[in-house]
Amino acid sequence: MSRRGLSFICQNCGAAASRWQGKCEACGEWNTMVEEGADRPAGPGRKGQKGRLFKLEPLTGEAKDAPRLASGLAELDRVTGGGFVRGSILLMAGDPGIGKSTLLIQATAALARAGHRAVYISGEEAAAQVRLRAERLGLSDAPVELAAETSVEDIIATLSEGKVPRLIVIDSIQTMWTDLVDSAPGTVSQVRGAAQALIRFAKRSGAAIILVGHVTKDGQIAGPRVVEHMVDAVLSFEGEGSHQFRILRAVKNRFGPTDEIGVFEMTGAGLREVSNPSELFLSERDLGSPGTAVFAGMEGTRPLLVEIQALVAPTSLGTPRRAVVGWDPSRLSMVIAVLEAHCGVKLGGYDVYLNVAGGMRINEPAADLAAAAALVSSLANSPLPADAVYFGEVSLSGAIRPVSHTPSRLKESAKLGFARAVLPEAARGDANDGKGGDGKSGLATTHVGGLTSLVAEIAALGKPRQNASPNNGHNAGQKPTQGGKSRGQDG
Ligand code: TYD
Ligand code: MG
Repeated sequence: MSRRGLSFICQNCGAAASRWQGKCEACGEWNTMVEEGADRPAGPGRKGQKGRLFKLEPLTGEAKDAPRLASGLAELDRVTGGGFVRGSILLMAGDPGIGKSTLLIQATAALARAGHRAVYISGEEAAAQVRLRAERLGLSDAPVELAAETSVEDIIATLSEGKVPRLIVIDSIQTMWTDLVDSAPGTVSQVRGAAQALIRFAKRSGAAIILVGHVTKDGQIAGPRVVEHMVDAVLSFEGEGSHQFRILRAVKNRFGPTDEIGVFEMTGAGLREVSNPSELFLSERDLGSPGTAVFAGMEGTRPLLVEIQALVAPTSLGTPRRAVVGWDPSRLSMVIAVLEAHCGVKLGGYDVYLNVAGGMRINEPAADLAAAAALVSSLANSPLPADAVYFGEVSLSGAIRPVSHTPSRLKESAKLGFARAVLPEAARGDANDGKGGDGKSGLATTHVGGLTSLVAEIAALGKPRQNASPNNGHNAGQKPTQGGKSRGQDG
């Protein structure tokens, strides 16, 4: 083969170079340049021809709602924004084994049962394996059209015959290959080429296509970062291996919101929709032990209550450990710094561990207050009241800033049997506005203006351990720090 037309493509970011390099100049990754055949131009060459004329349309005019097709799985529809849009392409990304194939065979079966033409193309499993799984899930009777194929040209030719499918699942894009590109399946050029061909087919035919994409260890969609830019929506399917909960999150969505999540539970009979996730996340609470606080959070338009667990323990290291699961480590550092600077809580000699129960991941700053409460509760060995929820953003000055959706948070808390809420001072009007606030929700509210008063509150409520200062809120963390203080100062 001649070397003309060959190029080196970064498998991480898709950047091209004309010669091999140890380090990709675009993304800075090492050893990611792989020689791939240059893409041939798509479509027939039009050298020397004048461009075709097309019609320009005004922006105003009859704005039609994107025609959608509900999948029949309410949690999936919530994330897509109401169903699959005709002619759209959606990328479903997730770790291997998280349940992408299971979710999509369930969605295809639900659509097929509703009388729509739904096609499932598996490039990873043999048709018999998919059939076996469908049988286990009790979906055998659904008129899904199934094939194990990997050639994009063959797939498009086959699906162009007959009635246009309403939904086509391609499992997975990494196994697909197109004749237009010379390199091996799974490489960036192939994945990009295959995705482009399928996108053209979706736009032309009006079928909605879901591409399954695997994610590498560091959370990137393997190889085809480029595909993210090409598709209409990117859904990420997440979960901790040890938990049965699975969370579907829209990372990008051209036709709907990106802050909604769908919650599923992996059971022996496939994925079960969880319509009230708070109940699930709070189902195994460790009542009465210090270091746990319930956070009344929001995911999109839906309130979601989760337990935040903290453990503050004397360190044996020069530099104490700060470990976080399910929350932003830099926000933990900030909350710790505010506690130290404004509330007299010294954590320099302590390891701090923070965990969001149930494998949930929180992105909201509103969790600051709950995290701070859990930390102080653990340090002062003072359990927080089991019937209280916390929410509010902590600012660097130690003030508690208001957050949005106070009424919804309170309403959900009351629904789940909580009796009181600790929330920002500035939310007083919000909570009493009669739109489901504490006026209606029946929750006793404690409004805190600053973190210092929260620390005082916790010390007043709890039964501090024997050697801790029982009387002064400001000193809630003071006594226990003494052992670690010298070490903290060393480090
Ligand atoms: P799968 O959908 O194959 O994952 P992916 O396509 O994302 O790689 O799911 C595989 C896992 O799900 C497997 O570890 C077993 C589990 N599972 C169940 O627990 N119950 C079920 O009914 C099914 C079908 C799978
Ligand atoms: Mg799979």
